[in-house]
Amino acid sequence: MHNLLLPLLILGHVFYPAYSTIQVLLTTGDKQHLLSPQPNLIWSTGQSGNIIIDTTKTYQTMEGVGASFTDSAAYLMNKKLSSAHRTALLNELFGKEGANLNMIRIPLSSSDMATADFTSDDMPQGKSDPLLEKFKLNKHHTDSIPILQEIKNIQPELSIMGTPWSAPGWMKSGNRGWWFRKGIIAGTLNEIWVEVYAEYLTKIIEAFASYGLVLDTMTLQNEPAFTPWDYAGMNLTAEQEANLAISVGKALQDRSLDTKILVHDHNWDIAYRATRVLENATAAQFIHGIAFHCYGGDVSAQSTVKAAYPDKEIYFTECSGTLSSGNFLSNLMWNVNNLVIGNIRNWGKTVMLWSLALDKKGNPNVGGCKNCRGVVTISNGKFTKNEEYYVLAHVSRVAQKGSYRVESTERYQTVRSVAFINPDNSSSLILCNDAQNAVHISIQDDNMVFTYTMPSNSVASFSWTQDSLFLENKRLIY
Ligand SMILES: *[C@@H]1O[C@H](CO)[C@@H](O)[C@H](O)[C@H]1NC(C)=O
Ligand SMILES: *[C@@H]1O[C@H](CO)[C@@H](O)[C@H](O)[C@H]1NC(C)=O
Ligand SMILES: *[C@@H]1O[C@H](CO)[C@@H](O)[C@H](O)[C@H]1NC(C)=O
Repeated sequence: MHNLLLPLLILGHVFYPAYSTIQVLLTTGDKQHLLSPQPNLIWSTGQSGNIIIDTTKTYQTMEGVGASFTDSAAYLMNKKLSSAHRTALLNELFGKEGANLNMIRIPLSSSDMATADFTSDDMPQGKSDPLLEKFKLNKHHTDSIPILQEIKNIQPELSIMGTPWSAPGWMKSGNRGWWFRKGIIAGTLNEIWVEVYAEYLTKIIEAFASYGLVLDTMTLQNEPAFTPWDYAGMNLTAEQEANLAISVGKALQDRSLDTKILVHDHNWDIAYRATRVLENATAAQFIHGIAFHCYGGDVSAQSTVKAAYPDKEIYFTECSGTLSSGNFLSNLMWNVNNLVIGNIRNWGKTVMLWSLALDKKGNPNVGGCKNCRGVVTISNGKFTKNEEYYVLAHVSRVAQKGSYRVESTERYQTVRSVAFINPDNSSSLILCNDAQNAVHISIQDDNMVFTYTMPSNSVASFSWTQDSLFLENKRLIY
């Protein structure tokens, strides 16, 4: 790292310090600032910082920031927005000047946030399809593909994760009956169909790929320790999930598909379940990482699993706000503290929220969460950005895909931090002040320091370049 304090005279050139000014984006709980650019800050020397960044100590690389592209989100974007409003929204979400989101999670069947119950091989009552001859990517998916392609054009670095909520009803036992909503409500995977289901999942991956949409990662099952009774879902014990990981891993290999397998995809408080899956050494060979949701326990569980399985990666894949809980300020603070700073300081490679869009009543849904809040709300032909939008944007605007989390002092007074070094060698820092009073703070990178006053209940994202690019290069003329 270069920390030239004075212009250097080298071979007749003057090289100025390689640190740029610092750009700042600010959001405050009172909504006076919403991802608002602040005047650039400058470096000084000769002091020490309250928060010290150490770029020599690196942790995980960041893979993506985004939300789930649910059937409900696709429906609202397709049917409830004009194409001009839709393009404007997609730019606000995925464009460089917007939130710059770079990851989506696609439910690979209906979920609760859907306009119907579906898989891609639904059969009439009493029929099965062992050779998957009736497999066809469901129309709900194909209808949404033009939007996905538009997203990919706006955000070429888009990472895509897929997650099934249920296998087709005929592959399940203990469901609520084939006559009832295609048999995909409740129940578990019947062991006689495990290998067929693995084939089915590879067919879905290939179908998306045929539209230029490559799934980088997949979780094997959304919330496998939960049995929903009014929307698609499928419980799997840790042993069943290990077994499925082996079958899916082999099926992917057979087809030369690079989609990485993640397991658990469920809450922090049952993280022991993830370690039970990984205890199967055969399954562990096929498993890239563990995915977590926020609806129980504490984010520190991610570090516990990482400590037990250091070669496995940690993904944070789901959390949703509800329309009835909290207000902008408290939701902003909770999300940034737990899902941004807490998650990333506990090895999370992704920051993913639940539905990308819902309407102002939390619709459409076929069951499950009746009052979830989307990242944006689409109502009356318009969209509005919710606290979730700003939470995600504070990360995705400054931490690029492939950035490393680097060491930084976790806390000074009421301000917490997380820091990154990006693939282009720029640096970034996110601070959150979860208090009613402003806090004056100094940040140290190497032996350069800048100061900033964090307003009460605020989040700020800082970025600067401090790489080997010399900013100025002037020939001395004497
Ligand atoms: C999983 O589903 C099966 C079949 O419906 C049911 O018997 C079992 O109780 C469920 N397990 C859990 C943990 O809910
Ligand atoms: C791993 O799971 C497979 C499939 O269920 C099983 O055959 C095998 O015995 C398990 N291995 C271990 C070590 O538990
Ligand atoms: C980033 O910095 C490292 C070390 O100084 C250097 O090797 C690398 O080429 C730089 N990368 C870019 C994209 O500037």
